[in-house]
Amino acid sequence: MGREERIFAAYEGVGKLSKLYDGMMTASTCVGKFALKFFWGLSVEEYFKFLNKALSGVPKNFKGKLLEVPVGTGVFTLPLYEGLTESEIFCVDYSTAMLNAAQSYANKISLPNVTFIQGDVGKLSFSDKFFDVVLSVNGLHAFPDKNAAHKEIFRVLKPNGIFCGSSYVTGQNSHTDFFVKQFCNRVGVFTPPHKNLSSLENKLKKIYRRVEISNVKSFACFKCLK
Ligand SMILES: C[S@@+](CC[C@H](N)C(=O)[O-])C[C@H]1O[C@@H](n2cnc3c(N)ncnc32)[C@H](O)[C@@H]1O
Repeated sequence: MGREERIFAAYEGVGKLSKLYDGMMTASTCVGKFALKFFWGLSVEEYFKFLNKALSGVPKNFKGKLLEVPVGTGVFTLPLYEGLTESEIFCVDYSTAMLNAAQSYANKISLPNVTFIQGDVGKLSFSDKFFDVVLSVNGLHAFPDKNAAHKEIFRVLKPNGIFCGSSYVTGQNSHTDFFVKQFCNRVGVFTPPHKNLSSLENKLKKIYRRVEISNVKSFACFKCLK
């Protein structure tokens, strides 16, 4: 099985267990709280600090065009979009199972201004300079071709557009790095090579004219200006 197929298969599996995934990602289940502490070394408080930071690059009362890639099950971001009624939002993910879960969540809360599209971040179907904001929560550590992802995200952003979100970074917690290497990379939910905080900052600074980056343990949160 090729790298892309392995990632696709891994997330098709995760998408079919979306309730379990969402419980873990929102730390609303015992399994989720345990995984946070044990694998990521994060308290629930630290985790929510990270999530708030990851989403904080999206301007308050944002009104333009926003691309989210990868949306996953939409567990973090769809509630945010409920308040952005005057924006046009496109949510892309490679996995149809993850997208289906996101779509059924969106149907429950009604998000008429949000469109879901199956696609590859490395081959986006949008024209150049189309978006004011691109949001990528926990995407860079999963994408197989990270250079293609950076190139495409930059291409679809307008001048002065914002690229923001979060990514796993190495070198902050040896226990987490061991877990990522032995489990996430092998299963295909993460794809190496992964960056550490300073190499991610350097990469982003090569592409964007302004970069703000910080971390909560092994999660880096960034906001970049094209
Ligand atoms: C760790 S999940 C993050 C999802 C969501 N943002 C979240 O935080 O829950 C990674 C997601 O990346 C998607 N993905 C992996 N490779 C992709 C690609 N080449 N293009 C678009 N999405 C991709 C997977 O299908 C999966 O839904």
